[in-house]
Amino acid sequence: MFEIVERQEMAQGTVVSNWVKAPKIAKKAKPGQFVILRANEKGERIPLTMADTDPAKGLINIIYQVVGKSTALFKTLKVGDGYLDVIGPLGQPTHLDKVGKVVCVGGGTGVAVVHPITRGLKQVGNQVFAVIGARNKDLLILEDQMRAASHELMVCTDDGSYGHHGFVTDMLKKVLTEHQDIALAVCIGPVPMMKFCCKMTKEFGVKTLVSLNPIMVDGTGMCGCCRVTVGGKRKFACVDGPEFDGHETDFEELTARLKGYLDLEKVSYDEFKAAHGSGKCSCCS
Ligand code: NAD
Ligand code: FES
Repeated sequence: MFEIVERQEMAQGTVVSNWVKAPKIAKKAKPGQFVILRANEKGERIPLTMADTDPAKGLINIIYQVVGKSTALFKTLKVGDGYLDVIGPLGQPTHLDKVGKVVCVGGGTGVAVVHPITRGLKQVGNQVFAVIGARNKDLLILEDQMRAASHELMVCTDDGSYGHHGFVTDMLKKVLTEHQDIALAVCIGPVPMMKFCCKMTKEFGVKTLVSLNPIMVDGTGMCGCCRVTVGGKRKFACVDGPEFDGHETDFEELTARLKGYLDLEKVSYDEFKAAHGSGKCSCCS
């Protein structure tokens, strides 16, 4: 069992942070890599990019949004409980090169993914601008951590309840306009956000990395489930990614493939919500 040693609810309980004992993974993991977790033997395998690691304590930090049955099951796990399996580190680490000025953009729970990359890009000597956004102030996560990980942080909310009133793309445009020498953008969040960030950075001629989140099963390149198209070529996000050149990514295909099981996911989540607490669901039985 991979024990949860610290647990925090964020964004009004819709997002949960767990520090999990996984010493071998904590020692090897690099920014941009992910793990696949399973709550119990009947559980679904869920890929999550590590938001942080503490190799000295043998801990990894995962932050997930509660969106369906499996993440709702994860949310039932308290400090002292654990995940049955945690496999990783998986995927290719981010290339943390010194390129000069960079801008890192995180939307919603994508902030958890962009955080270690932002910190890593600062540590190797880049000047790092960061932009984070959420629908409203209560849903914003990791503001203090992103401020520490960057040289300048811009915060946006869709409803104007905190920071700039608008999408992260507004602040991205401001940074790109004011700093014509930005060498790299890293944009991570919901697919429409990544798509529109890339459209903008393409106009400014700035190389852009995105982190793709297709449905995954094995996480080792065997099942083909995480297939994405980048530069007209078939890639597997679990072994070739999860980061790819955003200007080459087929976001329409990714969007379509992510919708493939929405109906079944809804049925499964509704059944879980109805059964949970009655002794009949997989976490209570
Ligand atoms: P959200 O929908 O609340 O959006 C977060 C922010 O992204 C918004 O505040 C806005 O600033 C920006 N944004 C959203 N749509 C935009 C658009 N059309 N144009 C410009 N900016 C836009 O985010 P959420 O509910 O936290 O996101 C959940 C989604 O993100 C899920 O689908 C999840 O799978 C995905 N996600 C992806 C990754 C990844 O690795 N790419 C990581 C975490 C979550
Ligand atoms: Fe199976 Fe990537 S998850 S090939």
